[in-house]
Amino acid sequence: MTESTVVAKQRLEIALDCCHFCLGESRIRMTTPPPQTMKLRVTRNEAIADGINIVEFRDAVGNELPQFSAGAHIAIHVPNGMLRKYSLCNDPAERDRYQVAVKREINGRGGSCSLIDDVKAGDELMVIAPVNDFGLPPRAQEFLFIAGGIGVTPMMAMIRQVIAEGKRFRLFYCSRSPETTAFREELTAPQFKDMVTIHYDQGDPSRSLDLRPILAERKNREHLYCCGPRPLMEAVRAMTDHWSPTAVHFEAFSEAETHKPDDKPFKVRLARSGAVLDISTSTTILEVLREHGLEVPSSCETGTCGICRTKLLAGEADHRDLVLAEHERKDTIMICVSRARSDQITIDR
Ligand code: FES
Repeated sequence: MTESTVVAKQRLEIALDCCHFCLGESRIRMTTPPPQTMKLRVTRNEAIADGINIVEFRDAVGNELPQFSAGAHIAIHVPNGMLRKYSLCNDPAERDRYQVAVKREINGRGGSCSLIDDVKAGDELMVIAPVNDFGLPPRAQEFLFIAGGIGVTPMMAMIRQVIAEGKRFRLFYCSRSPETTAFREELTAPQFKDMVTIHYDQGDPSRSLDLRPILAERKNREHLYCCGPRPLMEAVRAMTDHWSPTAVHFEAFSEAETHKPDDKPFKVRLARSGAVLDISTSTTILEVLREHGLEVPSSCETGTCGICRTKLLAGEADHRDLVLAEHERKDTIMICVSRARSDQITIDR
C-alpha cells in the first residue's frame, strides 16, 4: 500500500464496526478518528528464519500500547520513507509490545529491506496503531488456518488468542523448507502435534500440499482464514465455493499482486453523473474515483474485505477479488482491485 493510499484512508476516517466475519452487516462509520500515530522504540530486530526477521516495538518509557486483537496489523514508517503494513504476531493479551515478522522481499519496493537492514534495537520509528481487517468472529469456536510462507504471521496471533479462549484450531502451513519457515520451533512443539501440519514443497509447485481433502467439507462450523501468496489464496477460494461465504476469510500481502503485465487501460462510466473516467494500467478504479473527488469507502484495498463492493450495471468485469461468489460476479465488482474485460464498464456511482 502506498503512503498516499494510507493517508487517504485515514482522511476518510473509516472504521469497521465488525470484522470479516459479518461483512454483510458491516457498517462504515465516517466519524471515528483515524488510528493514532506513535513514536515507538525498536527493542529487537533479528533473524528467525532465512530471509525473515522479527521486529519488536515498545513504548520508550514503558507505557502500555493500544490494545489489538488477533489478525490486526500496524503500519510502520520505515527509514526509506515508505509506509508499510505488517500483521502482528505476538499475543494480543500483551500490552507492552508489538511484534511483526518481516520477509526480505528482494523484488519488492524496498520497504522490507529497509526495515531489516536500516533499523537496529534502540532506534525509534513512527508507527500507526493497530487496525484489524482480518479479525476472528467472537462466537466461532473452531478455526481452520491455511498459511503460505510469511502469511503465517497473523495466524500466530490468532493461535495464541484461540488457545487463550479455549477454542480449537487446525493450521496447515505451506513453506519452502525448514530453513525458511518462521516460527517453526514454536509450531512443532509437542502440544501442537495434532493441530499443526507444516508442508515443505522445496519451491516445486508439483509438490504443493493437496488442499482438496482438507477443504472438501466444512467441519464443525469452522471458520477458514487464509493468508499467503495470491495463487494459494485463489486456489483456496476456488475450492471453497461450497462453503458459506461468511466463513471464509482472506488477507493479501499487497495490492501490487493484483496487477498483471498484460493489463489494458479501460473506461468506467459513472451511472449517476454520466462521467466517463480513464483507468490506466497502473491505477485502480478506486484510486481514480478518489482522484475525482468521490469519497469511496474501502479498507483492505487488496480485494479481500468486501467493503468497496459496487454494483456493476454494464460491461464485463475482470474480477480479481477473493470475496465475491460466482453468482455475484455478473452484477457486482470490487473496485479496489478488479478491472474490465470490455473497453468500458458502467458502475453505480
Ligand atoms: S477495499 Fe477491501 S475488497 Fe476492496
